[in-house]
Formats: sequence, structure tokens, C-alpha cells
Amino acid sequence: MHGHDTASLQPILSARGVTKTYRTGSREVAALRGVDLDVHAGELVMVMGPSGNGKTTLLNCLSGLDDIDAGTVTVDGKDLFGMSDAERTRHRAQRMGFIFQAFNLIPVLSAAENVELPLLVTGVAPKVARERSHEMLDRVGLANRGHHRPGELSGGEQQRVTVARALVAEPALIWADEPTGALDSRTAGEIVELLHEVHAAGQTLVVVTHDEELGRSGQRLVQVRDGLVVNDEHPAHELHLAGVAVTS
Ligand SMILES: Nc1ncnc2c1ncn2[C@@H]1O[C@H](COP(=O)(O)OP(=O)(O)OP(=O)(O)O)[C@@H](O)[C@H]1O
Ligand SMILES: [Mg+2]
Repeated sequence: MHGHDTASLQPILSARGVTKTYRTGSREVAALRGVDLDVHAGELVMVMGPSGNGKTTLLNCLSGLDDIDAGTVTVDGKDLFGMSDAERTRHRAQRMGFIFQAFNLIPVLSAAENVELPLLVTGVAPKVARERSHEMLDRVGLANRGHHRPGELSGGEQQRVTVARALVAEPALIWADEPTGALDSRTAGEIVELLHEVHAAGQTLVVVTHDEELGRSGQRLVQVRDGLVVNDEHPAHELHLAGVAVTS
């Protein structure tokens, strides 16, 4: 990819002082307490940390799915929360993919139709979208399940449809929250391999996981504790400064 030019030093995502407090009734939970994070193009960033410490909130806020209380998030050089809702939604559709368990598939559409959607919303011809959807379902091991609706698939199969849907449009930035959580070890291994393949192809990924082995398999590990990034091993800019071309 870019090597050492200045363009590759510009993060595709930059968060500064991001805070998020959930309020339910009179109860407040400070889920993010001032998060700073830079993600550079081509990075595979693993995020780990104890349950309830803010990892999912981090993904929701840094991707613009949820609002923040304070701080800034810059994506592709633009202020994410300075955009209108419509702009933010369009930006997300064109640039981001999501592998979230809670990110529900559309129940009345078949698996193949669910996977086609991100292509259709960005103007890909229906015939091409159908072909790419089938290729992607094949890659997640669901070649013969395309015509089934989500309700007719197992939890792990539904999760694999979510993976196919997130990757089919080859988004620049992929957010994954426990992508292997509901899968048996063989299927989990295949999904991990697929994530490493899309990383090798130049896409950027931020992956939350409780799986120690998966967490250590990336080039960078970010630890989240109590709403803060407390440890960040091998961020790309440090490797750049050390003269190692991590993105090429
Ligand atoms: N919608 C919400 N309303 C109120 N509190 C919330 C909400 N979502 C999350 N929280 C709280 O915010 C904190 C951080 O939650 P978050 O889901 O980000 O944790 P997590 O690190 O992803 O945990 P896990 O590993 O269990 O998925 C927790 O205390 C949680 O109870
Ligand atoms: Mg979570």
C-alpha cells in the first residue's frame, strides 16, 4: 500500500477525549471517560478488556452509530459528529462494515438478499450484487443457505450472514464486536482467517474480542478498562517512526 508517504501517516480514524454517559432514570454509567485513539489505513486493531468496560460503546461511538457527550471523532479527515444524520448514514454505508451480533438481519429477506443490501444501497447493479452476495456467502461457508431467511438459520449461520454482509461491499473500515463469539471453534477459525484475508487485502479492521488467541493475532492490541484505553501495543505511527512500513 502506501509505504512512508505522508498520506499513510494521516489516520483514517482519530478520536480525542470521547466521553459517553448512559442515563437510565436517575442512574448514570460513565461508559467512556475520555478515549483517545488513532487508527491508520490498513491496520488490524484488536480491542480487549473485561465485560462491561466500554468496548461495545467504543465501537458504537467511534463509528457514529451512537452519539457522544464530548470529544471529537474524525473519519477520513471529516468531523463525524459535525455531519448531518443523513451525511453520517451515507458515509457509514459507503465506508464502513459492521460485524455485530446485535446488528439484526432483516427477517423478511433471504440470507442472499440481506448480503446484497449494502451493494444495492451504493448503486451496484442487482445482477452484480446477486453474484457478489453468492460469492461472499460461499466464503463464509453458506453457499447452500442463500435462499433461507434468518429465522430458518442457526445462530452461528446468522452470524456468518452478518460477516458476509459486512464484507461484501469491501468497506474501507470494518468494525467487529465478538465476531467469533457464537461460533464453534472450526467455524470461528474460518472467520478469523477471513478477517486476516481482508486485512491482507488492505482493508482496515477494529475487532473487539474476548478470545486471547484472536486478540494477539493482530498487529496491534488495545486494552480498554473502565471506559479508557489503558494500553496500546504497537500503534502504526510508532512503527512508522521506527522505520517499519506496517501498511505495505
Ligand atoms: N444502552 C445502555 N443503557 C445504559 N447503560 C448501558 C447501555 N449500554 C451499555 N451500558 C453500560 O455501559 C457500560 C459499558 O458497556 P459496554 O456494552 O460498552 O461493555 P463491553 O465492554 O462491551 O462489555 P461486554 O464484554 O460484556 O460486551 C456497562 O456498565 C453497561 O452496563
Ligand atoms: Mg460488548
